[in-house]
Amino acid sequence: MNFKRVVVFFAFCLPVQVWGLLNPILPGWNPDPSILRVGSDYFIATSTFEYFPGHPIYHSTDLVSWKLIGHGLNRPSQLSFFGTPSDAGIWAPSLRYHASTKTYYLASTARYAYTAEYRLFPRSFYVTTKDIFADNWSDPIYFDALGYDTDIFWDTNGDVYATWSGNNNPIDKIYGIYQNKIDIATGTSLTDAQLIFTGTLPDNSSARPEGPHVYHINSTYYLLIAEGGSGPQHRSTIQRGPSPSGPWESNPKNPILFNGADLSLPVQDTGHSDIVQAPDGSWWGVALGVRPQNGSFNNQQLGRETFLFPVTWEDGWPVFNGGQPISEHIEGVLKDKSPLSTYLNDFVSHTLDLSFYFLRTPYKTFHSLTARPGFLRVNANAFALGDRDNPALLLRKQTSYEETFETKLDFAPRSNLTEAGVTIFYSDLLHNDIGIVGDGSGGRQLVTRTNVQAVQVGPWSLTYTNSTITTVNHIPLTTSAGPVKLQIVGNSTSYSLGYAEGDSADFTFPVTIDSSLLSVPPFGGFFFKGAAFGVYNTGNGKPSLAPADFEYWKQTPVL
Ligand SMILES: *[C@@H]1O[C@H](CO)[C@@H](O)[C@H](O)[C@H]1NC(C)=O
Ligand SMILES: *[C@@H]1O[C@H](CO)[C@@H](O)[C@H](O)[C@H]1NC(C)=O
Ligand SMILES: *[C@@H]1O[C@H](CO)[C@@H](O)[C@H](O)[C@H]1NC(C)=O
Ligand SMILES: *[C@@H]1O[C@H](CO)[C@@H](O)[C@H](O)[C@H]1NC(C)=O
Ligand SMILES: *[C@@H]1O[C@H](CO)[C@@H](O)[C@H](O)[C@H]1NC(C)=O
Ligand SMILES: *[C@@H]1O[C@H](CO)[C@@H](O)[C@H](O)[C@H]1NC(C)=O
Ligand SMILES: *[C@@H]1O[C@H](CO)[C@@H](O)[C@H](O)[C@H]1NC(C)=O
Repeated sequence: MNFKRVVVFFAFCLPVQVWGLLNPILPGWNPDPSILRVGSDYFIATSTFEYFPGHPIYHSTDLVSWKLIGHGLNRPSQLSFFGTPSDAGIWAPSLRYHASTKTYYLASTARYAYTAEYRLFPRSFYVTTKDIFADNWSDPIYFDALGYDTDIFWDTNGDVYATWSGNNNPIDKIYGIYQNKIDIATGTSLTDAQLIFTGTLPDNSSARPEGPHVYHINSTYYLLIAEGGSGPQHRSTIQRGPSPSGPWESNPKNPILFNGADLSLPVQDTGHSDIVQAPDGSWWGVALGVRPQNGSFNNQQLGRETFLFPVTWEDGWPVFNGGQPISEHIEGVLKDKSPLSTYLNDFVSHTLDLSFYFLRTPYKTFHSLTARPGFLRVNANAFALGDRDNPALLLRKQTSYEETFETKLDFAPRSNLTEAGVTIFYSDLLHNDIGIVGDGSGGRQLVTRTNVQAVQVGPWSLTYTNSTITTVNHIPLTTSAGPVKLQIVGNSTSYSLGYAEGDSADFTFPVTIDSSLLSVPPFGGFFFKGAAFGVYNTGNGKPSLAPADFEYWKQTPVL
């Protein structure tokens, strides 16, 4: 179809448009946003779990256009993930600025060893930089307390407080918001940890007061927290008091953010918020939210994304989005600008841009943009996809439920163990791959591998299943050498995995998977991330000398 005609066609179909803010502002999984303004610059940091590097830092001057400018943790001396389980790793950040020393602080928690059996809270830490655009933060400085979601707050008298989510015994039982004064140079405690708040919900493990942020606004101290766990009961509540430690008066309008009061709303699981004031005096908030598809919490393959909303004040309390649930289109504020765009990397640059991630910390570099100019070369390692380690895998977040990923792979397998291809990656156990593998007699063949949850569950119920079903198929290729195009087509409820031999051939899609079988967590488990597209090269247990060359990386979200 002629492009101009398409534009004209859509222009006629558009309903009368009311201008407003388009959410999520950070599409694709970006949970636990912490926002900061310094002068005319806004910054947001989000969580990254077992991905490396950790904590993307996004920058904007208008709250509408956001650009990834770096990561808080991008060196092994800051973050060394070896065997860290899926969804452990880097949890919620707190991004703050100390004006008198012109220093940025990023407080973080790395849960290196978090599993169902081992849930001892770790020690949180912070890193600092004086130049946030230089993308080079300090090595970690550790706090003493065991806990997570740690916030740093400077009082007007110079005292510095660490405030975190912890509990009163080492086995996850009763959560609460704890706090102490710290020496900000060393992170060392200056006072005993004190339980300052137990939340607004009945005191049990599903209430989970967490994600604290302390503010001093108009001579009043505020404590904003997240509560209700990370699912549909997730919410934000706020309290105020005469000191950074309380005693707290709870806002009678709590929760101030809770889309879960109406489970039919398109944005759910809202909470874990942070607020910021604009130079013009207006206030804004960010929070995480999920956009379940097809009316089912089982289709949330993009995970938790970052949403923005206006904040106003009434009787000394902040009102989030005028007291309305947050939505994908908040009318009348800022301006419509889609945060989505097509991504095309033809790998001509000699460096990879910031939007790529590794699974855990690479032992050594396995990719190159110079070994074969114009290609992303991925050298294999012995780890296979699914190993709780560092397979030779490069990931880039999916940003729209309807999105196509395409690349062209040049790969000559040397044995039936050497395999390279693309994946829609959700976690170690839930990845779906299409690639090229040796056929055992010197040739090559296509391989598809699906890993999905064993039980499909009904709409609106998060019923956990226990096992993964893996299906591997081999398909003969008609060509014995030469590049093969690979494609993953995502929509609201499925992913189709396809290939095309040669430049003119149409894509064939041997596999379609139901995405609800990806995003439902296993029994007793949890999913904190969302989906990413990836390219990989593996020796499936043995080192492999066969390089995999990818000619381009194209992601086409439906705008
Ligand atoms: C980055 O920061 C580290 C630690 O502060 C420092 O040792 C190193 O020299 C810096 N690197 C660059 C390129 O500035
Ligand atoms: C926590 O309390 C709420 C409200 O009383 C209740 O619905 C929920 O089942 C409790 N959860 C646990 C794990 O005890
Ligand atoms: C702070 O106090 C001033 C003066 O009373 C008022 O105009 C302003 O709205 C207050 N701001 C907030 C955030 O409460
Ligand atoms: C979408 O939801 C409808 C209504 O619950 C259901 O019948 C249908 O199977 C769902 N489609 C997919 C692809 O999951
Ligand atoms: C791979 O090839 C080896 C040696 O020819 C053979 O023993 C093995 O069964 C093959 N494995 C697969 C998965 O095809
Ligand atoms: C999953 O495993 C748990 C613990 O072993 C068991 O209690 C539960 O019934 C199982 N659920 C399903 C759906 O198989
Ligand atoms: C999603 O893609 C699948 C596979 O091509 C197709 O069957 C389904 O109708 C599509 N769903 C929507 C909502 O477009």
